[in-house]
Amino acid sequence: MRYAIRKYDETERRRLEALAALLDPFTFHQLKQIGIEPGWRCLEIGAGLGTVSQWLAEQLGEQGDVLCTDLQTDFIADIDHPRIQVEKRDITQPPPEREQFDLAVARAVHHHIPDRDAAARNLVGTVRPGGHILYVEPDMHPAFCDDHPVWKRLWQAFFQWGERRDIDYYTGRRVPAQLAAIGMDIVSVRGETVLFNGSEASKAARDLYRMTFDAVLQPMIDQGFLAKSDSEEAYALLDNPEAWLMSLCFFATHARKPLAADGGEGQ
Ligand SMILES: C[S@@+](CC[C@H](N)C(=O)[O-])C[C@H]1O[C@@H](n2cnc3c(N)ncnc32)[C@H](O)[C@@H]1O
Repeated sequence: MRYAIRKYDETERRRLEALAALLDPFTFHQLKQIGIEPGWRCLEIGAGLGTVSQWLAEQLGEQGDVLCTDLQTDFIADIDHPRIQVEKRDITQPPPEREQFDLAVARAVHHHIPDRDAAARNLVGTVRPGGHILYVEPDMHPAFCDDHPVWKRLWQAFFQWGERRDIDYYTGRRVPAQLAAIGMDIVSVRGETVLFNGSEASKAARDLYRMTFDAVLQPMIDQGFLAKSDSEEAYALLDNPEAWLMSLCFFATHARKPLAADGGEGQ
């Protein structure tokens, strides 16, 4: 399975820490809206550092548990929690038969996966009838209407660079239709966009974007997607407390697997 960020090193760990700092509050709020119940069995796909799994494990009481998975488990292997099990799992591969999770969560994973239909079907296949799915995925649209021309150009280049790699930065808006097409009931879709500047108060967003730029801007310049001068200007904006910048929007889609028509065991 191909994944655009290939290095799982300390730099990537710090980038994932910034991603979690930015997205955890919104994600936890959406999970609270679902109404997690003690005793639930939960699955996380592409867990990164596992912050969502660890939060979930604290909501489930002594009987519940979380299967925390990723394509690459180096960052989660050391999680030591009585209700968390860590497993290597590729969501492009069919899940083991007869999984019956009450909740499956995938955040910032789906847009990286070329065959998103297969991945969505696999995720749906892990959930019991009546069970819940939460996808949290980016949608680039706010960055395209930012006040700073260079910020817009940078994200347009980013979008095109992503398209070449089958990464879809409009995935956030596409998830509900994709899940509905495979029979899920869509409960809610909500987005969060952070407006941030170059001050300490915006640390999570600044750190995330700076570290993401460190990882991808040079290849984007080398491959002709972005002018070097634009890259330099974009870095300068990240340090400017007077420049308020639009982040990407992250849409949270909450879906439920219908109960079988006979009201029971089905699917
Ligand atoms: C951008 S990170 C997000 C990490 C975490 N979900 C978060 O939001 O903090 C994407 C994660 O998805 C994982 N990933 C990529 N392709 C995957 C696949 N096919 N199956 C499972 N995980 C995958 C990567 O290893 C990486 O940890």
